[in-house]
Amino acid sequence: MSAKIISGNEVSQQLKEEMKEEVVGLKAKGLQPCLAVILVGEDPASKVYVSNKKKACEFIGIKSLETRLPAEATTEDLLKVIDGYNKDASVHGILCQLPLPKHIPETKILRSILPEKDVDCFHPYNVGLISIGEVRFLPCTPAGVIELIKRGGFQTAGADVIILGRSNIVGRPLSNMLDQRDMNATVTMCHTKTKNLKERCLAADIIIGAIGVPEFLKGDMVKEGAVVIDVGINRVEAPGTEKGFKLVGDVAFNEVKERAAAITPVPGGVGPMTIAMLMKNTLTAAKATMV
Ligand code: GUN
Repeated sequence: MSAKIISGNEVSQQLKEEMKEEVVGLKAKGLQPCLAVILVGEDPASKVYVSNKKKACEFIGIKSLETRLPAEATTEDLLKVIDGYNKDASVHGILCQLPLPKHIPETKILRSILPEKDVDCFHPYNVGLISIGEVRFLPCTPAGVIELIKRGGFQTAGADVIILGRSNIVGRPLSNMLDQRDMNATVTMCHTKTKNLKERCLAADIIIGAIGVPEFLKGDMVKEGAVVIDVGINRVEAPGTEKGFKLVGDVAFNEVKERAAAITPVPGGVGPMTIAMLMKNTLTAAKATMV
């Protein structure tokens, strides 16, 4: 059996088309959704992310604002920019691109964004809301994972789900989301100290790789017919190629696809979904100002 490939490129495009239509209706009611993005420093990967977010905004019809600060900017400089966007009623979402330069405390910055405008869903208030099932925003990458499972036509109710990795950005919020009453999965979060990892994976209906180890999940760790979602994006050396590196996920794709019912590729799987879900959160934030 060879797995169905769940394309994040296709699903995210479909989502963006849906949102584009929705924005037409919102604008007709006098609401112009707006996302403000802040980039500190010159990190090349961050510049690419920010530019992709801007393009997605343009496609959907979301207004995007951008503030760039130099790498030497102080915490106070950044807090001032955030405060300005917090107070600006025409701005619905604020995103501060990570990583920040080392001298700026990430926690303090992320907590200074108003929870109502926290479209990354990194503020502890919004994280806490998820854990009690009162969702305002969903964090973008975990929400993208769930959307891929749903739109791939797979059930989470009653499913045994293994999450490899317990990060605050992916593993932990995903676990919190999947065992809520609307998803009804039975979730096991695995990490470096987990016993019998292979046996646990072999018993799982859905496996989510979010561990940051290239091709960690091998074919012999996956049950026939399981659904495998790969959140990992790892750079590995690829001598002889133009760039000298390639991107691989946390899943040994070629082996696992022979056993799984469905699998997401890297790149083109979860990656493009993150931006689509950010756009969705921006619309959620904008619509909340209308009621
Ligand atoms: N850097 C890499 N991914 C992300 C993300 O999803 N949000 C923010 N704010 N920074 C990032």
